[in-house]
Amino acid sequence: MIPAMKKAAAGILPVIAIDRSSPAPLYKQLYDGYREAIVDRRLGAGQRLPSTRGLAAELGISRISVLNAFEQLLAEGYFESRVGSGTFVTTSLPEEAKPLTGSSSRSTTLRPGPRAVSRGPAALLRRQPAPWLDGAGAFRMSECAIDHFPFQVWSSLVVRHSRNPQRGLMKYGGPMGWRPLRETLAAYLRTARGVRCEADQIMVVSGSQQALELSARVLLDPGSSVWVEEPGYSGARDVLTLAGARLFPIPVDAEGLDVAAGIARCPRPQAVHVTPSHQYPLGVTMTASRRLQLLDFARRRGAWILEDDYDSEYRYESLPISALQGLDRDSRVVYIGTFSKVLFPALRVGYIVIPADLVPRFAAVREAMDIFPPTLYQAVLTDFIDEGHFGRHLRRMRQRYRERRSLLVDAIRKELGDDLEVLGAQAGMHLVAALSYKAHDRPIAVRAAGKGLWAMPLSICYLGRPTRQGLVLGYGGTSAKEIPEAVRRLREVLR
Ligand SMILES: Cc1ncc(COP(=O)(O)O)c(C=O)c1O
Repeated sequence: MIPAMKKAAAGILPVIAIDRSSPAPLYKQLYDGYREAIVDRRLGAGQRLPSTRGLAAELGISRISVLNAFEQLLAEGYFESRVGSGTFVTTSLPEEAKPLTGSSSRSTTLRPGPRAVSRGPAALLRRQPAPWLDGAGAFRMSECAIDHFPFQVWSSLVVRHSRNPQRGLMKYGGPMGWRPLRETLAAYLRTARGVRCEADQIMVVSGSQQALELSARVLLDPGSSVWVEEPGYSGARDVLTLAGARLFPIPVDAEGLDVAAGIARCPRPQAVHVTPSHQYPLGVTMTASRRLQLLDFARRRGAWILEDDYDSEYRYESLPISALQGLDRDSRVVYIGTFSKVLFPALRVGYIVIPADLVPRFAAVREAMDIFPPTLYQAVLTDFIDEGHFGRHLRRMRQRYRERRSLLVDAIRKELGDDLEVLGAQAGMHLVAALSYKAHDRPIAVRAAGKGLWAMPLSICYLGRPTRQGLVLGYGGTSAKEIPEAVRRLREVLR
């Protein structure tokens, strides 16, 4: 079988320079071009070649020249023909034609001289290995119960919009995104999340990560001070670091971000990144008084609030908590949401609710970044929501995750009650199992990964010295059947 990568390049012409002023005959130039492309691995084994007629037309040379070149390449074993299917690059290259190790066009043979690169990303490269990210399965963070996704409905909507696309779907669009989706989102956010917004303020983005990047570009300058939660979300810290922000880790207590501690550490931040509905990773819900305190502080100091509302649709012991943005009367809050948790992360669709006066700035920056978001899945998503499938899916998944969460909490309490304290299990798709005794969580997570348990150490969520150690356990992608056995294995790891 031809591997997918090669299929993708089927019939594509490699770069072959045909020089009509050269004394070398055209068939020889074509022969040399193909031979080099194969030896260099620019053309892969098994790759389909264009028809001789098509190639002659494309290169503007006679078909005889192409036939002569192909005949030679077939005779020497660079090409092979398969009856009824065409001509292909050989799957067994003649031994003398094999490139020396490392001389393929996909790897660099030269030792590069000095080359200047931005210093910005260097801070992101100093990473330790993270074996808990190596596999998929029990406790892996950011996984959804994808086997319960309504693929039938989804695929019928994809077909609807692919087979008969509206004209606007295939053209360049505006930087804010597909208007019907923005209208749908505005209605959803007003009703379900208590967000005060109009469709004009909503920009569709490729997930929260792009929302944060855009926000950083619009709101911050290199050196701007930003409060981040401690412990907090590394994705946010990374993108803010890349923007050149100075990060101030502000502790989170049982009421959420400790605003007083923040004021003491950094009295004039340019922005504050918060996850008020379900603090990442501790799972605390920010209390009403803290919310008002934060909004008041932001108003007095002219700070922006980046509200990252990544998984608040899943709340198990009460209705979802209204967004902080809904309490804002001073256009301080940039509200960020995503479909990564409620549908699936590979969709790469999220949204920003932008204070109305900042919309032109966000739009201008977005246009400079990637012009506009891809439209097909925006149209699919609009119908998915408008036709009621999203609401139904949410209700079903809430039930399923509630069941998984209860099983996990019960199993931890039963099997590991003396070792682990469960935190933040009221919402979302993960909980924290904090260590009750003094130990480092990283070696435990490494050992757990060796047993196929993908528990993330809590300590990596701290920018400064960790004040708690524990394991962050995702249960979105861990089936009810797997949970008891996974907790038993975790007990073996801990003891
Ligand atoms: C705090 C937080 N925000 C946002 C996201 C989702 O990011 P995205 O929408 O870019 O997939 C996650 C995913 O784990 C998260 O933990």
